[in-house]
Amino acid sequence: MSVEPATAGELAANGGADGDVAVSVRNVYKLFGGDEQAALEMAREGASREAVQETHGSVLALSDVSFDVKRGELFIVMGLSGCGKSTLVRCINRLIEPTAGEVWLGDHEVTSLSASDLRQLRRTDLAMVFQHFGLMPHRNVLDNVCWGLEVNGVERRRRRERAEEALTAVGLGGWGANMPDQLSGGMKQRVGLARALALDAPVLLMDEPFSALDPVIRRDLQDELSALQERVHKTIIFITHDLSEAVRIGDRIAIMRDGAIVQLDSPTDVVLNPADAFVRDFTKEVRLQSMVTAESIMHELPRVVRGDRLASEALDDIVADDRVHAMIVDGAGRYLGVESGARLRRAVRDGDPPVGDLPLTATDAVTGDTVLDDLVAHGLRAAHSIPVVDGDGMLVGEIPLEALAEAMTSDESAGANGADDG
Ligand SMILES: Nc1ncnc2c1ncn2[C@@H]1O[C@H](COP(=O)(O)OP(=O)(O)OP(=O)(O)O)[C@@H](O)[C@H]1O
Ligand SMILES: [Mg+2]
Repeated sequence: MSVEPATAGELAANGGADGDVAVSVRNVYKLFGGDEQAALEMAREGASREAVQETHGSVLALSDVSFDVKRGELFIVMGLSGCGKSTLVRCINRLIEPTAGEVWLGDHEVTSLSASDLRQLRRTDLAMVFQHFGLMPHRNVLDNVCWGLEVNGVERRRRRERAEEALTAVGLGGWGANMPDQLSGGMKQRVGLARALALDAPVLLMDEPFSALDPVIRRDLQDELSALQERVHKTIIFITHDLSEAVRIGDRIAIMRDGAIVQLDSPTDVVLNPADAFVRDFTKEVRLQSMVTAESIMHELPRVVRGDRLASEALDDIVADDRVHAMIVDGAGRYLGVESGARLRRAVRDGDPPVGDLPLTATDAVTGDTVLDDLVAHGLRAAHSIPVVDGDGMLVGEIPLEALAEAMTSDESAGANGADDG
């Protein structure tokens, strides 16, 4: 029995990790125009985008970009307009030729392939989904999805089967005979996705696939992509400039600025532990909207007070803990209510009953995943602090109202580590 964990550990230690890398981008630079080689030297010495452009007339679109994407990972590249996202994704399949650096797809170095090998690779290993759908208007939906398979020489019956499967996977089963102009934007993008899925390539490159869609459709497609990914386990490199989209669907997020990656982390870490002031600024809204949860700002309770304790004992407890109220739980630890010190003192004078017998103030409890917006509503009704419970109603912590106020007003809430570079 104990052999299994050891084996798994060995695999990881013996370079099994390499086998887990689907795409590796290594020290890639891209310069557009001007004296590219001289500009490259300058960029390698660490010159800024502006300086390189001024001196050599070259746009430094990518500057020393390196990262590994794991097999089955949904990897996000995000950043503001012009930061180099599209250039990066196009350097991966060499629709744009990198000026320097290497791109690897598993064991194959993409950057050293001949033109014909590269074409083959794009058809079988690296499918791309574009922002503006890229559908052929004169072909019906099914034939659009079949197209890549046709180019790959897949036999007609087989390619129609695969296309139907892919259309079903994106929720468009039965739409094959329609023409693209009969579809909404969201549906067109599903067709684009189906076309990439039909190729059955292990790696999908998606350049802002949802950004032309309205917010509601966009969220639907995000959810569907997540659900689809659960089933198909592709390696997906997904470009977006929308952080909430990135956080919603990404396994890891690379944040780019001026052609370089400034942070590569899990969604939670990007939002809660921004690497610098730029990322912090960038992530502030999402942090406030969704990442500040009850769990991320709650405080541990020094102790909880069981309902069978006497009022005088509860009072001693909170005085010892320097608190003004007691959180009362039942014998199993389930939250019952809150009692203030003043009311406990009165109860002691009135015969000192067990606190469980008092008419407790039942401040509504929240669960750990409650987001800031909802916490604020609770905060308005709470006298002291908001109790936090788990799914079984067990009391796990509290949010003092000061902590809530701090989260609302401060960008340094929830443990963001930005104190060093403000
Ligand atoms: N063919 C080109 N010739 C010259 N400059 C280019 C070319 N393509 C891109 N650039 C420049 O490279 C930089 C990065 O562009 P890129 O399109 O990769 O940005 P992006 O992050 O995808 O932006 P967006 O969010 O607007 O799509 C920009 O400054 C852009 O002007
Ligand atoms: Mg782009």
